[in-house]
Amino acid sequence: MMNDWAGLPATYGDVLRRAMDSLFRTFENFSEGTFIVDAEARVVWINKRYAARFGFADPEQAIGRDCEAVIPNSLMREVVKTGKPILLDILETDREPLVVTRLPLKDDAGDTVGAVGFALFDELKALTPLFSHYSRVQEELIATRRSLAQARRAKYTFGSFVGTSAASLEVKRQARRAAQLESPVLLLGETGTGKELLAHAIHGGSARANQPLVTVNVAAIPDTLLEVEFFGAAPGAYTGADRKGRVGKFELANGGTLFLDEIGDMPLPLQGKLLRVLQDKEFEPLGSNRIVGADVRIIAATSADLPALVAAGRFRADLFYRLNVLTIHAPPLRERASDIEALAYAMLEDLSTQARGGSHYELQDDALRLLCTYAWPGNVRELRNTLERAVMLSDRERIDARALAPFIGSGQGGGRAAKQPAPDGQSPATAASANYAMEPSSWNEAMAAFEKRFLSDALRANGGRVIDTAAQIGMGRATLYKKIAAHGIVV
Ligand SMILES: Nc1ncnc2c1ncn2[C@@H]1O[C@H](COP(=O)(O)OP(=O)(O)OP(=O)(O)O)[C@@H](O)[C@H]1O
Ligand SMILES: [Mg+2]
Repeated sequence: MMNDWAGLPATYGDVLRRAMDSLFRTFENFSEGTFIVDAEARVVWINKRYAARFGFADPEQAIGRDCEAVIPNSLMREVVKTGKPILLDILETDREPLVVTRLPLKDDAGDTVGAVGFALFDELKALTPLFSHYSRVQEELIATRRSLAQARRAKYTFGSFVGTSAASLEVKRQARRAAQLESPVLLLGETGTGKELLAHAIHGGSARANQPLVTVNVAAIPDTLLEVEFFGAAPGAYTGADRKGRVGKFELANGGTLFLDEIGDMPLPLQGKLLRVLQDKEFEPLGSNRIVGADVRIIAATSADLPALVAAGRFRADLFYRLNVLTIHAPPLRERASDIEALAYAMLEDLSTQARGGSHYELQDDALRLLCTYAWPGNVRELRNTLERAVMLSDRERIDARALAPFIGSGQGGGRAAKQPAPDGQSPATAASANYAMEPSSWNEAMAAFEKRFLSDALRANGGRVIDTAAQIGMGRATLYKKIAAHGIVV
């Protein structure tokens, strides 16, 4: 094939020679030092300035010596040996470091006959803008990686799971066993029973602990975005897609654990795709021709009645069986009332630490008895919210039943009735609503109160299932999810 050089004037060789000569002179003039070695890495030429820098008053004294004997730490021997240039390097000397370039010299047959080295600058100051840019970018990268790693590490350990009741000990035993195995884990149980806590503890106790733990809250993401969220997309794969493409959670979790929270809310078509990935252990991001391996351990959780969803045709039976290998039922708080005291104390300890001014909150016996008689539909989360509110609004550090009663059941929009009446003869729920019925002072407050009440009732009527509630009241799932969080509704 003709190349671009063909047809050059006969003086081409001359031009090339001139270019090389001029290049050499330019480098020589501008560099802090230049030297040339032969095929044995012995110095054959060195300029005066460079020789003087390394203690040779006369350059002649350096000729014929090994390059390392003249310039300690020189890598010219490597260039001669490999025939490959070292285009940019830093040479440590006993004075300031030098920025150097080393190029092989070849004969017409292409054999390396020597090498030439230029010390470009004798102070790194010339490279300061480059270095500071590099180190800033590097620092940002390290900080981002650190915070990502932090976010993707398990937040809770088995030690965070408070409770010594028989039911709690059994759950912890099963979870520890699950941590030793690789099969999928299915965490079932009412809201607020610690499923997320257990998922973190299982990952943190597993062989994958040093790899990422990535969470997808299926209910919080609109159906149309879920597939991309899971599997990622190639740049420009769909209208409105990120120009740079998107890395899916499966890929982010590679080597680690993928926690699929609220799996009961997963749309049917995506269930099929998830099942395929679990079987094939690989997938293709949207719009790409790239096959990505999925070495991911799945932990799924839901407060929905999954077998009932299967029976109703809303959850694929084959996916259910695939996930239902190591199934752990997080027991509701009312079935382990003996844990309430330890939980309450651990939470108060936590709240005391958070409080300013070194407060130390304690429960009076009557307050504890009150906690143990309530049915706790929102479980441990509700217990925590209740204590938090009581602590916030109490002007004393010792919390008694009277201070606590107004808040019991208040997060539930009424909540379930207590099993026994409270010590003052009133049921805690009634006491709660009596105290909680604040008169709203503005339209906005009235609307917010109405919305909270309306959503709480709708959720309760649908057994706490976000997807069903959203469909019934004609609201987007993502919106409903945000409102639940904003109002602090315990579903
Ligand atoms: N056994 C426990 N010991 C200490 N804290 C707990 C325990 N169980 C739950 N919690 C706390 O209660 C809160 C709710 O727990 P978590 O989020 O794990 O519940 P969940 O089962 O995932 O609820 P949901 O179904 O609503 O998502 C968290 O703050 C968690 O730390
Ligand atoms: Mg959860």
